[in-house]
Amino acid sequence: MQIPIHLAIIMDGNGRWAEQRHLPRILGHRKGVESVQGIVDECLELGVRYLTLYAFSSENWRRPQDEVEALMALLGTFLKNELSRLQKMGIRLMAIGELDRLPKSISKILKESIKKTAGNDRMVLNLALSYGSRNELTRAMQRLGREIANGKLQADAITEEDIGMALDTHDIPDPDLLIRTSGEMRTSNFLLWQTAYTELYFTEALWPDFSRDQLLQAIEEYSRRQRRFGLTGAQLRNKENNDGEGRH
Ligand code: IPE
Ligand code: IPE
Ligand code: MG
Repeated sequence: MQIPIHLAIIMDGNGRWAEQRHLPRILGHRKGVESVQGIVDECLELGVRYLTLYAFSSENWRRPQDEVEALMALLGTFLKNELSRLQKMGIRLMAIGELDRLPKSISKILKESIKKTAGNDRMVLNLALSYGSRNELTRAMQRLGREIANGKLQADAITEEDIGMALDTHDIPDPDLLIRTSGEMRTSNFLLWQTAYTELYFTEALWPDFSRDQLLQAIEEYSRRQRRFGLTGAQLRNKENNDGEGRH
């Protein structure tokens, strides 16, 4: 089985999971945290190198205040509880998004955890928090604009690499596989630039029900796909043959 180097997940459906059980939505989010822990463990075992989880979008700030507050509290608890597990498992924590918008107490724990796990190298757990791709691209354009204004960069000389380097994900390769749970077939402002050639996988399962087995199913399907990157199938077969010969 081909294991994606970078797996990204839009963890959707916590609210519906709770509503189906006549429970408050926040209980769905709490249950969702258990799925996160199971999936992190499984990814580590499988040898995934980067796992990016869409945990809170730029647009999610517009949800009812009590839900936003409950989600932030849950995030704080998660970060506090998770640190020792991350250290034990050799996982490095990273985060993307407009992190300044997070409550002070949360951004403090987040920064500390990122710093404390910086030396871990078995897997990167990258949390997208207060993240929106358009917001990220806007901030990147502002950064490049400032470089042009102070004479460090020529507008006509901007490359795709320069744009990639100005994004929050500059240290992370593009995702190989993107999974979205809960049956919605959209990307909701997630990694728009970075997923240009990412394989997409949609499942009906709600995030709290998304199991290790379902993750394996997604990766199995990913393994069966041919990623062509604009080339023809014949070109790819030639390339594979040549690469194979190169290894002998
Ligand atoms: C995903 O679950 C988690 C967040 C967006 C924070 P939702 O809360 O969006 O769940 P549904 O889509 O309402 O079921
Ligand atoms: C996307 O889910 C964001 C996260 C999973 C954090 P949403 O539930 O916010 O997306 P929409 O509103 O259905 O597109
Ligand atoms: Mg949703």
